[in-house]
Amino acid sequence: MKFQFHYYQPEFEDLPTAVEHGLSQSPKQLHPKFFYDKEGSSIFEQICEQPEYYLPNVERSICEDFADEIIACLGEDCHIIEPGAGSSHKIRFLLDRINPAMYVPMDISSEHLRISAQKLAEDYPDLPIHAICVDHTKPYELPTEIPADKRVFFYPGSSLGNFDPEDAIHFLRDLHAKAGKDGALLIGIDTKKPAEVLNLAYNDATGMTAAFNMNLLKRIQSEMDSELDTTSFTHHAFYNFEHGRIEMHLRSHKDQKVRVNDSIFHFQSGESIHTENSYKYTPVEFVALAKEAGWQSERVWQDENGYFSVHFLRVS
Ligand code: TRP
Repeated sequence: MKFQFHYYQPEFEDLPTAVEHGLSQSPKQLHPKFFYDKEGSSIFEQICEQPEYYLPNVERSICEDFADEIIACLGEDCHIIEPGAGSSHKIRFLLDRINPAMYVPMDISSEHLRISAQKLAEDYPDLPIHAICVDHTKPYELPTEIPADKRVFFYPGSSLGNFDPEDAIHFLRDLHAKAGKDGALLIGIDTKKPAEVLNLAYNDATGMTAAFNMNLLKRIQSEMDSELDTTSFTHHAFYNFEHGRIEMHLRSHKDQKVRVNDSIFHFQSGESIHTENSYKYTPVEFVALAKEAGWQSERVWQDENGYFSVHFLRVS
């Protein structure tokens, strides 16, 4: 087994500091990274199985339908680097078809990364794997064991949409700098489409997305000294047409006070905590955004409804 684990000791901003800061702001907000505790990560996997949440299925079908063309773009012996790899599910469609020279999954969640990377190493024993535990939204350097040529960044799942556009450009610039002269990027981006479809995707009938959002309040309740009635908040997700994004909120349906440690936060009825954005880009919009970060669009693949897009871009 050719497996190495690099631990970069990501700095976790703690939940108490983030709550204190986020709920003091106007409008109130909390960073989405706090969604992903053990419970949150497991709810997220269930979101991906909801029929209304079309993203993973459509992305998978595009990757399978155009696998030959995607592989031709990647070329031989590439070094695939995946920021936020999570359980390293999505890379398997490639590993089942080609033998890259190296796979580098990166994730902030150390345990999850180690287990998934080890599993992958068992399933693909000839594949050199370097797993890196790092917060890819903060400055970091790749270990010297990763060859500098033929680097391909893989960023599926429309995770780029969870950055604000300026931060997305910043992140893409960082990938561009790390990719090297002959580097490339294979990325999945959710597209703009009728608001009904988007609204349903983030308001699934089973309530998984609601449970995911509400889990933030449960964490505050169980991990901190607080007086908080979670039943007085509801999941509220909607497409904001002007900004081209889904917004997720936790909305209070009464005037109330919430105490967390020594701080009291006042909520008016209807006031909410903004927990996440998911920006949607037409292929043309995304190509322009990526261009600002130095990337040159080479191919775009879409499903027949145009619900999702997979892009292949080069450094130059
Ligand atoms: N990036 C995906 C999206 O924006 C996945 C995701 C992140 C998500 N946070 C989420 C999906 C919260 C549902 C709810 O859709």
